Amino acid sequence: MRLKNKVIIITGSSIGIGRTMAYEMCKQGAKVVLNARNAERLDRTYQEMKKVGNEVTAIAGDVSKMADCQKIIDHAIEIFGQLDGIVNNAGISMEGSVEDLDSEVFRKLMEVNILGSIYPTKAALPYLKKTQGSVIFIGSAAGIRGIPNHAAYSTSKMALTALAESLKIELKESKVHVGLAYVGFTENDPEKTIYDKDGKIIPQPSRDFIKAESPEKVAKRIINMIHKRKFKEVFTTLGKLNAFMNRFFPFVVEPILSRNYYKNKKEE
Ligand SMILES: NC(=O)c1ccc[n+]([C@@H]2O[C@H](COP(=O)([O-])OP(=O)(O)OC[C@H]3O[C@@H](n4cnc5c(N)ncnc54)[C@H](OP(=O)(O)O)[C@@H]3O)[C@@H](O)[C@H]2O)c1
Repeated sequence: MRLKNKVIIITGSSIGIGRTMAYEMCKQGAKVVLNARNAERLDRTYQEMKKVGNEVTAIAGDVSKMADCQKIIDHAIEIFGQLDGIVNNAGISMEGSVEDLDSEVFRKLMEVNILGSIYPTKAALPYLKKTQGSVIFIGSAAGIRGIPNHAAYSTSKMALTALAESLKIELKESKVHVGLAYVGFTENDPEKTIYDKDGKIIPQPSRDFIKAESPEKVAKRIINMIHKRKFKEVFTTLGKLNAFMNRFFPFVVEPILSRNYYKNKKEE
């Protein structure tokens, strides 16, 4: 019960990694605030989480809108009276080259993945300072090195490094913990969707060619980061290898990414 009675908001927690994190945190005694835009799907998860045993609440809202983020934080305070952590998990991905990608998709990714991490954090800080709580950003291995055909996603996730690094120093005196998880390939929720190059929402294409980590393992790693107040952590062996090679041998990484990109292009 490492999180006993800790109040934690998880944005984007109706499905996927966020939902699994909510489940694991409830099991560890946390009071969890669920969030997502689709109220019906959120309610379905809320009903499931209530059965896990601990206190849970849910509030629909779009993290790319500051007013919604303020409502999410206000709701958490109204129900539980305090805030010990926020996991900025809501995010969306895409596929398409910079040249082909509809420019609206760039805008949407920056709004959800970057502003959608900044706005909830800003609204949460006054309360996190009182509890010396945690702010967690959910980054990606794609935020370590720019990935062809995923530039919008990589750009948005790389921005989280700058955000976390700046914030960590700004919050040093108030002792609020800042963590950035570079999550690797994770088994997808069957309901997961992404943007295609024309800005259409499509089911996440299969990624069977890569060994993915289970959402349970990802959730436990994130909980561990909160518990140990870790700053940065790269998940999965492939993610760690990517970080190491990109740092010390970037000239090896580029041809690998390049070969995969042009091979996939030919197969399309
Ligand atoms: N899956 C992976 O392999 C992987 C790898 C590295 C990093 N990540 C990162 O991990 C996080 C979770 O990924 P996932 O694969 O679990 O995603 P997912 O299955 O697609 O779930 C995304 C969740 O976020 C919510 N959401 C999306 N946009 C939102 C918005 N504007 N406001 C509030 N909620 C929003 C969705 O519900 P609604 O649509 O109802 O809002 C849903 O609950 C993301 O930040 C992702 O970039 C994932």
